[in-house]
Amino acid sequence: MPAISLPIRTDRLVLRRFDGGDLDAFHAYHSLPETARYLPGPAKTYTQSMERVGRYANFSFEKEGDWVALAIEAAGEPGLQGEVVLKWLPGRGQGEVGWTLAPGARGKGYGTEAAQAVLRLGFEELGMHRIEARLDELNGASAALCSRLGMRLEARHIDKWHYKGQWATELIYSILADEWRIGSRG
Ligand SMILES: CC(C)(COP(=O)(O)OP(=O)(O)OC[C@H]1O[C@@H](n2cnc3c(N)ncnc32)[C@H](O)[C@@H]1OP(=O)(O)O)[C@@H](O)C(=O)NCCC(=O)NCCS
Repeated sequence: MPAISLPIRTDRLVLRRFDGGDLDAFHAYHSLPETARYLPGPAKTYTQSMERVGRYANFSFEKEGDWVALAIEAAGEPGLQGEVVLKWLPGRGQGEVGWTLAPGARGKGYGTEAAQAVLRLGFEELGMHRIEARLDELNGASAALCSRLGMRLEARHIDKWHYKGQWATELIYSILADEWRIGSRG
């Protein structure tokens, strides 16, 4: 895979590498049960946030299983708005995208704008062929984001996960490089 050149700038956002200064802002939204509702595991403890920010800050993208983890900042407004991640899945040209925003950053299209930049990175810079998103069927905000990105609902796995004390149905959305090219031209 080619090297990833950061930061990535979009109309309103700067996507950059995490650093230690992001810890408190990261923990502020990841310690909320509301943020954790559709993420694996409970709301994060401070120690878990430290561990995660450390891992994100030092990410390398060299082999299957590695992640690109990008801090989302509003242009001209230093401070963490959330994160967007891209995982290199096993198999030829396969990726998975994920996103989390701080509550105050939601409802502005930042998630869509950041995820579009990461799809562009995956398809146009890293040469990926297919990128998917996996989500809980109850996570309507995430499903709407997938639709805004032009991703197709590809699979529905009933009671695939058991977390947060209940069974959850998994939805898989995906988009192919060719679909991305057609969509980004139109
Ligand atoms: C999933 C999550 C990132 C979605 O956030 P979001 O703010 O709904 O998504 P976006 O940032 O793309 O914003 C879209 C909203 O902003 C509105 N918006 C305002 N200005 C906009 C603009 N310039 N461009 C696009 N949308 C805009 C859209 O109308 C939409 O609002 P609506 O939901 O009322 O229709 C957020 O709910 C979250 O962080 N959840 C917790 C973590 C989580 O569940 N992660 C995913 C696990 S699979």
